Amino acid sequence: MKPATERRPPDAAASVRTSPSLALVKYWGKKRGGRNLPATTSLAVTLAGLDTRTLVRVAAPDEGDAVRVGGELQDTARYAPFFDEARRLFRSPLRFAASSENSFPSSAGLASSSSGFAALALGCAALSGLGDGPDTDALASEAARLGSASASRAVYGGFTLLPAGARRAEPLEGPEYWPDFRVVVALATRDKKSESSRGAMELTRTGSPYYAPWVRDARKVSREALAAFRDRDAQKLGDLMRLSYLRMHASALAAEPPVLYWLPASVTLIRACAALRARGIGAWETMDAGPQVKVFCLAPELAAVEAALREASPACELIVTKPGPGPDLRRGQEIGAGAGSEGR
Ligand code: DP6
Repeated sequence: MKPATERRPPDAAASVRTSPSLALVKYWGKKRGGRNLPATTSLAVTLAGLDTRTLVRVAAPDEGDAVRVGGELQDTARYAPFFDEARRLFRSPLRFAASSENSFPSSAGLASSSSGFAALALGCAALSGLGDGPDTDALASEAARLGSASASRAVYGGFTLLPAGARRAEPLEGPEYWPDFRVVVALATRDKKSESSRGAMELTRTGSPYYAPWVRDARKVSREALAAFRDRDAQKLGDLMRLSYLRMHASALAAEPPVLYWLPASVTLIRACAALRARGIGAWETMDAGPQVKVFCLAPELAAVEAALREASPACELIVTKPGPGPDLRRGQEIGAGAGSEGR
């Protein structure tokens, strides 16, 4: 482990705003060993305007760690590996109490666990006396991974990479790297998802004959996608994004028992993207562990993409977003409602 980062007098409470990390190229499956190390490399963007706000405080000596999301007390066992790792990495004996609110539907395939654990990790680091800076971010990314591997990416804004087998994510570029980059999130439903990503990727690993080929193929897709990202080649990146999510879902569908997240509205939206591309308009969709469809396009084509999605599926709510800033941490105070980031 690296030497501890610069320490400062600990605060009794911290407020953190984070945003979810959307994988353009997917993490799906874990390395053996139980440390939540990803089996595949993911390339992701942190989305502006979808906000998680978490208040973390030091728990009283007779309290254990506790987390509330939207007022609901969460299962302690789900959070224990994260808190244990946070104490080890931050060299802290503290217990933590956190309450978190999302400005978007939780557990609906919008990566609320990525922004949630990222906020928690940054808050716990601050309360443990770690100062601001890249060393703290790296330790927070590592701790957040134990909560959700995608959360290791949400510790950063802009574009991030979580290599297969890595303990922490790497910030690639800030949001300004690709000013025209837009994502339209189409909500096929606001309901909670049928199967957690954690459960579903484990079902895929243990029960799908296509799991090993998925992991093998993902190496090539992520390598090529990273090159396309480096070239800001939207067409190439968009095509690879589609291969990544389609192959991920294909491997999950082939599991015994199968994992199917798609709803009729998801398929309608996928077809609307295909129709846009047939008209020469760049619209490349991706999906995660849920029925929502997220569409990558460039700013000049945003209006056409929004209009086509709305026409195809009028009941679906659309959220327009773009690469977002990094987390906002306030020590010892709450973040006001206006401190979020804007979509367009
Ligand atoms: C489909 O990070 O939620 O969104 O590490 O088990 O908590 P755990 O899984 P999680 O999985 C995210 C899967 C995905 C793809 C991605 O974000 O890379």
